[in-house]
Amino acid sequence: MSTHEDTRRAWDEASRKHVVEYAEHLEQARTARLWPVEEELLAPLIDDAEVLHPQSGHGLDDHALLRLGARSVVGIDYSPTAVGAAQRRAEELGVPCRYEVAELPDTGLPEACADLVYTGKGALIWMGDLDAWAAEMHRLLRPGGHLFVYEAHPLVPLWSWDATEAWVRSDRSYFAASHVNDTFPARGATEHQRTLAQLVMTLQRAGFALQHLAEHPDPFWMPEDGERAAAWDGRLPNAISLLAVRS
Ligand SMILES: C[S@@+](CC[C@H](N)C(=O)[O-])C[C@H]1O[C@@H](n2cnc3c(N)ncnc32)[C@H](O)[C@@H]1O
Repeated sequence: MSTHEDTRRAWDEASRKHVVEYAEHLEQARTARLWPVEEELLAPLIDDAEVLHPQSGHGLDDHALLRLGARSVVGIDYSPTAVGAAQRRAEELGVPCRYEVAELPDTGLPEACADLVYTGKGALIWMGDLDAWAAEMHRLLRPGGHLFVYEAHPLVPLWSWDATEAWVRSDRSYFAASHVNDTFPARGATEHQRTLAQLVMTLQRAGFALQHLAEHPDPFWMPEDGERAAAWDGRLPNAISLLAVRS
């Protein structure tokens, strides 16, 4: 089986969590909110926006986007399991979210169909061809539309999960092209690395103008069992927020 197929299968298996925890997610969706920094950046531009959410995963953020003012959200994910659970919940709650199975960077959606592309929280690292991804996001946005990314900092694959001391893993490099994930979904899934500079330059090449870029000490996600790494103690970058406008 190819690296690509391993990764896709690992995600579809991991997405069964969204089915197992369906009832819990249904309750969470009723009050779901984005992180404060996301709300602050998106509030001025989300009113009545048609939002596209590539790699929508469990899709809980889509309910938060509606709550913040979006008119509708289209979620895209290549896991039929994730898409099925998110669509079932949207129908049960009667909200304007629609989910489609597609393998990025191609979405199969018409050009200029969105005012805002919202993505991240463990998304970009799965993209093998980031230039193709950026070109597709540019194609999908209307002129003047925004791309918003709240994502793991590119240094995160280097941090150990040691609870007592923060250290850099000896088997990882900031400048490596990829590594095999050993946390979630693991099982041979391959992550594609870029430096922060490479991400910014990729977006610029695709025709985006950067409006905001910030680095944050807190990870976008922490394990539900309470496990905490020393690398998350506020001294190291663990997340980025990025807002770019489509020319
Ligand atoms: C960390 S998860 C979910 C991220 C989502 N923002 C969330 O918070 O639930 C990453 C998602 O990307 C999806 N994915 C990975 N590679 C993909 C690809 N090439 N095309 C479409 N979906 C992909 C996986 O199925 C998974 O649901």
